[in-house]
Amino acid sequence: MSGVHFFMCYFETTRECNEDCPGCMTRREGPVVEPLSTEEAKRLVIDEVAKICPVGSVAFSGGEFLLRPDALDLLAHAASRGLYSFINTNGRLIEAVLLAEIKKACQGRITLGFSLDSVDPDVQGRCRSGDKDELLRRIALCDQAGIGYFVLVTVSRANMNTLAETSAFLKERGIPMLRSPFVPRGAAATRRDLMFTREDMKHFIHPVLRSNHLAYVSYTPFFASPSLAELGLAKLGISLGQLGCQAARGYVGVSPEGDVAPCVHLLDSAAVCGNVKQTPLSELFNTNPVLVGLRSGDKLKGRCGRCRYRTACGGCRALAFYSSGDCFAEDPTCFFEPSDEQDKSEYDEETSRNTRAFIEFIATNSPWRDIFAGSPSGQFGAFLIRFVAAVRTMIKPFRRRIHKHENPAY
Ligand SMILES: C[S@@+](CC[C@H](N)C(=O)[O-])C[C@H]1O[C@@H](n2cnc3c(N)ncnc32)[C@H](O)[C@@H]1O
Ligand code: SF4
Ligand code: SF4
Repeated sequence: MSGVHFFMCYFETTRECNEDCPGCMTRREGPVVEPLSTEEAKRLVIDEVAKICPVGSVAFSGGEFLLRPDALDLLAHAASRGLYSFINTNGRLIEAVLLAEIKKACQGRITLGFSLDSVDPDVQGRCRSGDKDELLRRIALCDQAGIGYFVLVTVSRANMNTLAETSAFLKERGIPMLRSPFVPRGAAATRRDLMFTREDMKHFIHPVLRSNHLAYVSYTPFFASPSLAELGLAKLGISLGQLGCQAARGYVGVSPEGDVAPCVHLLDSAAVCGNVKQTPLSELFNTNPVLVGLRSGDKLKGRCGRCRYRTACGGCRALAFYSSGDCFAEDPTCFFEPSDEQDKSEYDEETSRNTRAFIEFIATNSPWRDIFAGSPSGQFGAFLIRFVAAVRTMIKPFRRRIHKHENPAY
């Protein structure tokens, strides 16, 4: 066991899909290679994830994972190993009976990630099928089944103009949003023109991400102050290294055929580090020079290498690779120009404030508290935050009365 407190393996279990999204990173032309069998998926991926981190998680994806005939079997196996499961899905197959089966197989330890690229029907139609109303119907079914969810928004030049509306729509409903940066992989290999630029990041994307604390899941550039670590994250068992880019730090991608990369966005590229059929996943994670180097945090180059935010942020390793061919290069979409580690971003305070709000959210909401704060100290920290939140709710009416009394402007 490597001793990491937070670990997620993003497992693309199949390239088969019931959709045909034009920019899909997983679909590829050419001869079909058999995906890992049920037995291989269990032994070479799931069991190995449990070795890396006994309180880890598997994000089952594809293609469309739910098309795999052994989907429930794999979920049950992950649960039997003590792992938490996520399913990233287009939602097409989701209905009440299947949700009940999924919940039973996972012993209730399951969260779904639905994809939505825009609330604007025209923009959504250009990126993928479905729309916000379909999404709402599916999450209503999840609510009835008592299953948590979040929404994955793949950000590209095709939808960044509507990201603010999409984020507001999700935030109003209390739905966490995870951004996936568009990369030229798979069916999207020829669409480099859809990758967002530094200017796009500065003017359209970053203002939206930094203002929605429910989107504080693994995005870059991420300007959470290093002093946040001293201000209490440690009590929760959460470290700054669990925010920002997770590639190889708390996360690896595994392809349907068993290839391993620091991030799912880097599968099918020269950044692949090995294959689980040749080398055990736990051994790769602990010995592969790229995976170990990314985790060490001091090998980053360029602006990321001299930046005070490199522990919390780290820069998107996939965007670094697609722009330079080097996983350790600076994130080309970051608009911060640090001379050295003393330089502070003008968004430091806003990001740190929202990071605290995000931490409070994950500490008080399942499944996040189980995933991020999996260690015993983390669970105690989560308990403390829940306790403080409950006390605050109880004393709110009294505080309002006191303020009214003290402040004649009320
Ligand atoms: C490949 S899909 C598989 C899961 C499921 N079939 C779905 O559509 O959500 C997983 C996530 O990757 C995102 N994605 C697809 N192509 C991408 C690309 N070229 N760059 C970045 N993310 C991409 C999708 O939008 C989706 O949120
Ligand atoms: S490389 Fe890092 S920031 Fe980029 S998509 Fe992967 S985990 Fe996220
Ligand atoms: S320079 Fe790199 S580490 Fe620093 S904020 Fe930008 S992307 Fe993040």
